[in-house]
Amino acid sequence: MSVLQRSKYISQDLTKRTGQPDMLDFDDIQHFLMSRPPARAARYEFLSFRSGVGGRAWLTGLIDKVGTAGAVGSSLLDARWVTVGFTWNGLQTLGVAEASLANFPEEFRQGMAARAGVLGTAGANHPDHWVGGLASPNLHAIVVLFARDVAERERCRGEHGRYVAQCGGVEVLSSLDLEAIPPFDYAHEHFGYRDRLSQPVIEGTGMEPTPGSGPPIKPGEFFLGYPDEEGPAAALPQPEILSRNGSYVAYLRMQEHVGAFRDFLRAHGETPEQQELIAAKLMGRWRSGAPLVLAPDKDDPKLGADSQRSNDFSYAKMDPHGYGCPLGAHIRRMNPRDTAANMNRRKMIRRGGTYGPPLPEGVPDDGIERGIAAFVGCASLVRQFEFAMNVWTNDPNFHELGNERDPIFGTQDGTFDMTIPKRPIRKKIIGLPAFTTIRGGAYFFLPGIKALRYLGSLSDGV
Ligand code: HEM
Repeated sequence: MSVLQRSKYISQDLTKRTGQPDMLDFDDIQHFLMSRPPARAARYEFLSFRSGVGGRAWLTGLIDKVGTAGAVGSSLLDARWVTVGFTWNGLQTLGVAEASLANFPEEFRQGMAARAGVLGTAGANHPDHWVGGLASPNLHAIVVLFARDVAERERCRGEHGRYVAQCGGVEVLSSLDLEAIPPFDYAHEHFGYRDRLSQPVIEGTGMEPTPGSGPPIKPGEFFLGYPDEEGPAAALPQPEILSRNGSYVAYLRMQEHVGAFRDFLRAHGETPEQQELIAAKLMGRWRSGAPLVLAPDKDDPKLGADSQRSNDFSYAKMDPHGYGCPLGAHIRRMNPRDTAANMNRRKMIRRGGTYGPPLPEGVPDDGIERGIAAFVGCASLVRQFEFAMNVWTNDPNFHELGNERDPIFGTQDGTFDMTIPKRPIRKKIIGLPAFTTIRGGAYFFLPGIKALRYLGSLSDGV
């Protein structure tokens, strides 16, 4: 997943857009899916409204702090970026009319915990084990704070804490602090893989896709009210003021078992080189970021660091049998590129970061929770996020593999395998352990700014 960034410059600087159809409402859309601010720290707060009036009072005082797609990126001096989202229960508590609530999509109405059967979040990943009140119907809202550094995060934490205390009608169910892990000069997660390499580019933002990434994706795949890859804008939940310019995000808190991951590499590779190759086969990229399709035998860190080259590959023509990148590797599942139909309708925007302290090399696992807490943004949870979970992540027969799940993130219980195709003889790892555990998740709707004002203006019983 995407991790917190150190970069001095905003990676998708929307102020530089030129010659693009002036279509997207940059002043209304929240910045979250549109840009990735240069944050090194973050805090997520999960909130419950004691009453509609309390929730609306809290929201009304916060709206001016929420970053828009137009404002974020306009100044390098920005230090913090705020995003607000609501669960369906949250919209109900704020006073959205029943008729309107009813025309939000079913998966959003049910919430992520109720969708465990579709998502394949069973066993240790089941919502019964989730922390922080995320599976509770009392979860109503999230505030995501991205901050330039830890000091700014702490300042904002204090400010929001005082604001919540003064509002009275809002309770913080739980919170999570996130920090980028050193070295800070490139984005990576706790297993050591370079992250933030592949991301869809949205048509109308003026961003150029890197070679191999395909054409920009229609904005309606991510924001409600715009043409999508199928044609004109899909019908909006009513009233339009509430839904236009909004997006859905699926939140996931994913613990990474770094000790187990390193033990596994040692058990399956006799030399450090062999261990690195096993790590690469699980992901589809070397930990440097170099894709196996382009660097099948040996790591190529320069390739991994070169955004103009690191996505310039496909599977059907360049590696049909998976001799370089196994069919079941994480990136080949999560974006099968030219080996799957309808890919432009399944794209997801990833945001988030790492939490917990890094585990130094050579040190046994200390039992402290560490991982990735991330968001998958889209216009249709069922078509984009849930499809990725149900089919690409957890369907044992994806790509006709028979008995495999995503080796990094699938629901693993020791009964699934991983095939590494090779000439002349393939290798099969029997009984993969779980390297990650889902500790919580939720579906949120990120409304546009006008919609936030509309929500703040509602009253009970309308
Ligand atoms: C702890 C769990 C996870 C870890 C450690 C992880 C790690 C990574 C890494 C290192 C990459 C390669 C860098 C990049 O292409 O940006 C990647 C790619 C990707 N991941 Fe994950 N990921 C996790 C969970 C997920 C989840 C839950 C989803 C979505 C449901 C997801 C979707 C993707 C996608 C779409 C790509 C890009 C593939 C491509 O375009 O080639 N990942 N992940």
